[in-house]
Parts: sequence; structure tokens; C-alpha cells
Amino acid sequence: MTNVSLRGATAADRGLLARATLDDLNWKSPRFTRSEVEDTPQFRHYYDEWPTGEDFGLVAEDTTGVAVAAVWLRYFTADGPGYGFVAATTPELSIWVDAEHRGQGIGGLLLRQVAEVARSRGVAAISLSVEDGNPGARLYVRHGFRPAPNGTPGCLLMQL
Ligand SMILES: CC(C)(COP(=O)(O)OP(=O)(O)OC[C@H]1O[C@@H](n2cnc3c(N)ncnc32)[C@H](O)[C@@H]1OP(=O)(O)O)[C@@H](O)C(=O)NCCC(=O)NCCS
Repeated sequence: MTNVSLRGATAADRGLLARATLDDLNWKSPRFTRSEVEDTPQFRHYYDEWPTGEDFGLVAEDTTGVAVAAVWLRYFTADGPGYGFVAATTPELSIWVDAEHRGQGIGGLLLRQVAEVARSRGVAAISLSVEDGNPGARLYVRHGFRPAPNGTPGCLLMQL
């Protein structure tokens, strides 16, 4: 695995989370451009005004300080829900690993660590949404996420 160190995600990482959101949306094929994501509120709100309220996340950097992955949890509302919305008290998890660093355990490391941070903050549950066919779903199951009812069509809603 690429040698990475983890740090908290700050407002200075907004651009990184924008790139991560674009990559996550394009996990299968290049469906959206950066400006389409920017112009679509239900995509943009994954990074816009990050962090707000109790939002938190982690960034993985390689030995040269370049960010290669991130995991972040946002609190959405019933009025402006994310695709994995369960409740305003349940943060929704997003995760991204740079294409050149996938399949080396960095995503798993981030999931373990962010779950620990969440527990230490007294977060009772975390949700996420993963599109049908995304192999990431196996990783989430390995880290304790379980299918939950009422997901967006074409996506699996999961909860830890
Ligand atoms: C999903 C993702 C965060 C996982 O991070 P990772 O560092 O590659 O994951 P790990 O190396 O810890 O674990 C490997 C697991 O990740 C999943 N995975 C998803 N895409 C993968 C890829 N391109 N390469 C390797 N593993 C991938 C698989 O479930 C794999 O487990 P498996 O071997 O049992 O199938 C990362 O691959 C990624 O950013 N993918 C593209 C964007 C995306 O799909 N984001 C999630 C949206 S819900």
C-alpha cells in the first residue's frame, strides 16, 4: 500500500472534495463534467460550504504531502437530502481514492479510521448511498455497513 498519513479535512480541502465528488459520480464512466457537477445543487452540496456544523472527514496524504484519498461525513436535511439521506442526525459518508491508488487498502483504512472518529464523537449511525454495480459496496459490507430500506432507485442505501 502507498504509505499514507491521515489528517482532518478542513475548509481548505473544499477543492479536493469537489474533485472527489466528480470522480465518485464518474466511477463507472465519464458521465458528468466538472461544470455540470458545479451547476447541480444535489451534487454540489457534497462539498459546498464544507465543513458546516458537525461535518467531519479525513484526508490521506502520500509521503510528499499530496492528497490521494478522502472520506467525509456531511449532515443533510430532509429539505436538501443527499442520496444516502436517512435522518438529519445521521451523517452521510462519501469516500474517494485517487485512481492510481485504488485497490491498495487506503479506502478500507479511511473507513476504519473515520468510524473510530465518529464513535469518539458519539455519532450513533452513518449512512451512504452506492450505485448498483459499484464494487465499493463489497468494501462497505466488509466494514459493517448493511442495506437499509428506502434508497434512491438504482442505488443501495447502507447504514453502519
Ligand atoms: C471505492 C473506493 C473508495 C475504495 O477505495 P480503495 O482504496 O480502492 O479500496 P481498498 O483497496 O481498501 O479495498 C478494495 C475494495 O474496494 C472496492 N473497489 C471499488 N473500486 C475499486 C477499484 N477501482 N480498484 C480496486 N478496488 C475497488 C472493491 O470492493 C474492493 O474490494 P474487492 O477486492 O473485494 O472487490 C475507491 O476504489 C474509489 O474511489 N473508487 C472510485 C469512486 C467510487 O466508486 N467511490 C465510491 C462511491 S459510493
